[in-house]
Amino acid sequence: MSTFEGYVATFDNEPGYLNWAAFGPLSPSVRAEVFADADLLGSGRPSSLSLVAERVGQAQQIIAGMLGGDADDVTVQPSSTQGLMHALYGLTGAVIASTAEFPSVSLTVERAATATDHAVRPRWITPDDGRVTAGAVVDALDDEVVALAVSHVDFRTGYRADLAALRDAIGPDRLLIVDAVQSFGVVDVDYTPADVVVGHGYKWLRAGRGSAFAWFAPRARERISPLLSGITGTTASGLFVDELPAPAAGARAYTVSQPDTLAAGRLAIGARDVRDAGIAAIEERLADNVDAVIEIADRHGIAVRSPRERSQRAGIVALAPEEPARLAAALANAGLVVTARGASVRISPHAGTDAETLQLLDDALQAFGNETFISA
Ligand SMILES: Cc1ncc(COP(=O)(O)O)c(C=O)c1O
Repeated sequence: MSTFEGYVATFDNEPGYLNWAAFGPLSPSVRAEVFADADLLGSGRPSSLSLVAERVGQAQQIIAGMLGGDADDVTVQPSSTQGLMHALYGLTGAVIASTAEFPSVSLTVERAATATDHAVRPRWITPDDGRVTAGAVVDALDDEVVALAVSHVDFRTGYRADLAALRDAIGPDRLLIVDAVQSFGVVDVDYTPADVVVGHGYKWLRAGRGSAFAWFAPRARERISPLLSGITGTTASGLFVDELPAPAAGARAYTVSQPDTLAAGRLAIGARDVRDAGIAAIEERLADNVDAVIEIADRHGIAVRSPRERSQRAGIVALAPEEPARLAAALANAGLVVTARGASVRISPHAGTDAETLQLLDDALQAFGNETFISA
């Protein structure tokens, strides 16, 4: 069995799970290692505590390798929103962001403006269907703009932004701040056009909550003042008393306090597993599964709102059915787990989604269509 097929075989959750964009059921390796780490913490022995603390460095190394950066530039965070707070609160100037972003981007830009007495100024854009394209960004550019904050993959439509094109659009002197929550680990892309990348482990990495990261490339560190820097973000290497050291020169400045070592371990294992399986292979299998979902929706006459081109999507298929609430209920009754929000039903498979799950979806949509026919 190849490493990739071995990885696919680890998807041991019940058939019917199509909600990876909301939460990824924990992988067997994450579950096993967190139990082992918890046992070590339970012993209280300093050597055992140190062993678990090594998870932080492991997570930094693995994430940095996947992003093409240095481990020292990766910080372990409690959430990707907190990573974005470190990046956005420390800016001075206008920040382009779409009003349709996940609130971790939009609300954080707004709160940054309030917290900084408007040193940070939101430059809202409302592009068609929330798609942050290079054209939409260029239209909003002027000399005041210092950064663009954008989701790599839109949580609602699944639209995948073109990071290289966005970098070209903003030029070399502005910061590209990327929320990679819906792409990291399942999209094989070059993240180096970005200056800041945040992500977390509780969806596509199958690593549970609390396992987030934020990467600050050197250019970002030069321009983002560490406004939220805490006791782990200083020049001091240990505990300090009777002195107030300055923020550290490195990315550590964008941390508040000691990281949760159990969460860092989960992040390290979740990231290691996708790296070892091969992110290109994961992306390809995920794209096959997304194709299958789109084909099923098309066959049953349900409108698909997500992009169809592989290069413009990742793992999210947004359906726009005529009767969203009734469809959501039908899927739930059939044992399918999806996200139903307003007019949209969001289906998100993973690389390990099995044929049985896709068949369940097909059968549920078939029955849904027949029900419409009978009741019409
Ligand atoms: C695009 C995007 N960004 C951020 C978040 C929130 O991340 P966190 O819970 O790590 O703050 C989500 C959660 O669904 C998301 O979809």
